[in-house]
Amino acid sequence: MASIAVVLVLQALLLFVTAVSAQPQYACNSNSGSIQSYAFCNTSFDLSNRVRDLISRLTVQEKISQLVNKASAVPRLGISSYEWWQEALHGIAYSPGVQFGGNVPSATSFPQTILTAASFNTTLFYKIGQAISTEGRAMYNVGNSGATFWSPNINIYRDPRWGRGQETPGEDPVLSSQYGTYFVRGLQDVNEGEPYSDASAGLSRLKVSACCKHFTAYDLESWNGVERYNFNALVTQQDLTDTYNPPFQSCVQEGHVSGIMCSYNRVNGVPTCADRNLLTNTLRNNWGFIGYIVSDCDAVSLIYDATKYASSPEDAVADVLKAGLDLNCGSYMTQHAQTAYQAGKINDFDLDRALTNLFIVRMRLGLFDGDPKTQPYGTLGKSDICSDEHQQLALEAACQGIVLLKNEGRSLPLSQGSVKTLAVIGPNANAANIMLGNYHGNPCKYVTPLQGLQSYVSTVSAPGCASVACTGDDLISAAVDTATKADAVVLVVGLDITQETETHDRTSLLLPGQQQQLITQVASAAKVPVILVIMCGGPVDISFAKYDNRISSILWVGYPGEAGGVAIAQVIFGEYNPGGRLPVTWYPENYTQMSMLDMNMRPNPSTGYLGRTYRFYSGPTLFQFGEGLSFSSFQYQFTSARRRLSVFMSSNQSSSSELHKPSNRRKPYSFFLQAEDSRCETLQFPVKITVSNQGSHAGSHSVLLYHTPPKSSPTGSPKQQLIEFTRLHLEAGSESSVTFMIRPCNHLSTVKKDGSRIFHGGMHTLSVGDVHHRLSVMQVH
Ligand SMILES: *[C@@H]1O[C@H](CO)[C@@H](O)[C@H](O)[C@H]1NC(C)=O
Ligand SMILES: *[C@@H]1O[C@H](CO)[C@@H](O)[C@H](O)[C@H]1NC(C)=O
Ligand SMILES: *[C@@H]1O[C@H](CO)[C@@H](O)[C@H](O)[C@H]1NC(C)=O
Ligand SMILES: *[C@@H]1O[C@H](CO)[C@@H](O)[C@H](O)[C@H]1NC(C)=O
Repeated sequence: MASIAVVLVLQALLLFVTAVSAQPQYACNSNSGSIQSYAFCNTSFDLSNRVRDLISRLTVQEKISQLVNKASAVPRLGISSYEWWQEALHGIAYSPGVQFGGNVPSATSFPQTILTAASFNTTLFYKIGQAISTEGRAMYNVGNSGATFWSPNINIYRDPRWGRGQETPGEDPVLSSQYGTYFVRGLQDVNEGEPYSDASAGLSRLKVSACCKHFTAYDLESWNGVERYNFNALVTQQDLTDTYNPPFQSCVQEGHVSGIMCSYNRVNGVPTCADRNLLTNTLRNNWGFIGYIVSDCDAVSLIYDATKYASSPEDAVADVLKAGLDLNCGSYMTQHAQTAYQAGKINDFDLDRALTNLFIVRMRLGLFDGDPKTQPYGTLGKSDICSDEHQQLALEAACQGIVLLKNEGRSLPLSQGSVKTLAVIGPNANAANIMLGNYHGNPCKYVTPLQGLQSYVSTVSAPGCASVACTGDDLISAAVDTATKADAVVLVVGLDITQETETHDRTSLLLPGQQQQLITQVASAAKVPVILVIMCGGPVDISFAKYDNRISSILWVGYPGEAGGVAIAQVIFGEYNPGGRLPVTWYPENYTQMSMLDMNMRPNPSTGYLGRTYRFYSGPTLFQFGEGLSFSSFQYQFTSARRRLSVFMSSNQSSSSELHKPSNRRKPYSFFLQAEDSRCETLQFPVKITVSNQGSHAGSHSVLLYHTPPKSSPTGSPKQQLIEFTRLHLEAGSESSVTFMIRPCNHLSTVKKDGSRIFHGGMHTLSVGDVHHRLSVMQVH
């Protein structure tokens, strides 16, 4: 979001925050007299009748006024204006509909998404969603927010340079799908974790409304003169089906999300917000999405103004409405829909279709049920925001996500006894606001890394650089002096949102300016241990530190949120045993020689293109997806898992379905099932894995189960793919087991060039860490 105009609006809003009088936005007030007797206010009717009644009472002008994020009031019907645009990426965040100040000065700021994802803990994803929706609903009740939140961002983090990679759960479709599903349920569920029954999911009550964005194949801000606003992403059907779209499909089918945002970019020539195939065929018809579709901000205007995809503003408006869009973030619709209507380019059917989707969401939120105080969650208020419980969860989340990347000679954890004085050095040593990353609100409080460490031992400190950009080396010698006065050194370096953010991609993966110089000079002068803490969203090339034996330990802490400093200190002093795993591959600097515009996941040997993410990339890496150490060590064993799977094929199936050849009896592996095949439902089996903690520290550990497809799989199958994960807690010396239910057509399948998903016969491999289990899949007749 946030074009330049929008940023200005945002800033203006912040200035006037305290001047705005706080009133919850709702309709059907009990004082509204005869309006109360209209069917749309009557909660004993079902939602579709209420919405139909409401729409039937609106004039064309009133209808059009509802199709933008700032929906107008309809005073004659007792309907207040409504601001649809609220943000809550990792806590309630600054956005047009959110007002900090007065009653509600702040809200809990959880770690930036990329760090939370590193926990590989779906319970945590859910609980953060739940805490945010409690704070969001409380802010709605007291009039400081609307109830529709445009989070989460679940685009695949394809290229390490992307400025918004920090907002996402990383590069893997399974992790991103799980993150989206659990976070959305946490935001929306009113029944505290009870799974929805699919039948009622589309019309059930919402605590707040979530929105999965940005649909689809959006992961570029600006590269080599190409902007997200005019970027035409060329995406194969294979990549769409097995990489870019799965998080959205899960958001809809497992998370039952009530909002989807289409993106700025075009996909294969068509602006996503004007793509009927994507919005109506894929999203609504194939996946069964029930909810509203909103454009990224000003994306409707781009369709004419920037790309001339449409030949007039009226055509742009018609294109998006006909494609299935419901809401325009921006004001283009209110400017041009009236003339489009008069010219016959849109009609009442188009308007009513969009309005139905919009008002159903407002009604599911209870915004047409009168005073929110009398409704479910009506008692939530000020005291539910920044509660001890939520702030504790923010700390837990940061601890759970932190990734230990190097720990030579077990230098970590430090012991308070042997470190009398600790030097805390670096441009992020005393980071406060920087710990939040982007899309943040005003946090309840901050504890910086320096403050966190000070609560364990006495410290000396020096920034070493004036800022993260670290353009000069004039502060380095003072930092070196400071470091030599201490028994151990913690260097806190990395990035901030001047380096990576919305509208700003990086061009290099190296640490900015003189940071590397600062680190190596401090490390060569200081006593060991030297602990390097990297605070950033996207990966950085720190090969120099990985291979420098003066640097004993490396921690990646993402942007750890308001409690970041406490979490970092708890890990460094061993109060929390780190168990986070990288949600993205860390590449060497020369990865930036590849074009950021190349959307292909698969490598292309003929052009030297190496492909993307651990599933396909064929070049060297610095750290791998899923990498992460512990103070302990964990071992795995497949304790119960079948070695053979026979798929029954009746004799006439070979010719009728898409099986290879009828005469394949002598090649029992040479067959495949389409993922939609009815036999898929009966093919499932458990895999039990025993995990033992062989070290002397208790700790949490995420078990990541990977699949390697048979050699005979179709061209372009991934090298390996994550299929399931779970996080366990194990006392020192103890063991525990986890059982994954494998559904082969889903978990052990691959996607063909035409986008169809198949389960292929042959020798499949399941892996956890270095332990592999082979499964032979053959056909029988
Ligand atoms: C709502 O509808 C029910 C059923 O038709 C009716 O009995 C009731 O009086 C209505 N309530 C109001 C406030 O009009
Ligand atoms: C980067 O360098 C490595 C080793 O020198 C090489 O294997 C790899 O292909 C290079 N990557 C790119 C994108 O050129
Ligand atoms: C396969 O044979 C069965 C039994 O003869 C028949 O019912 C079925 O329709 C056939 N399937 C196809 C796809 O021809
Ligand atoms: C997963 O997260 C929840 C919520 O923070 C926490 O209670 C639980 O201990 C975590 N699980 C593990 C194994 O760390």
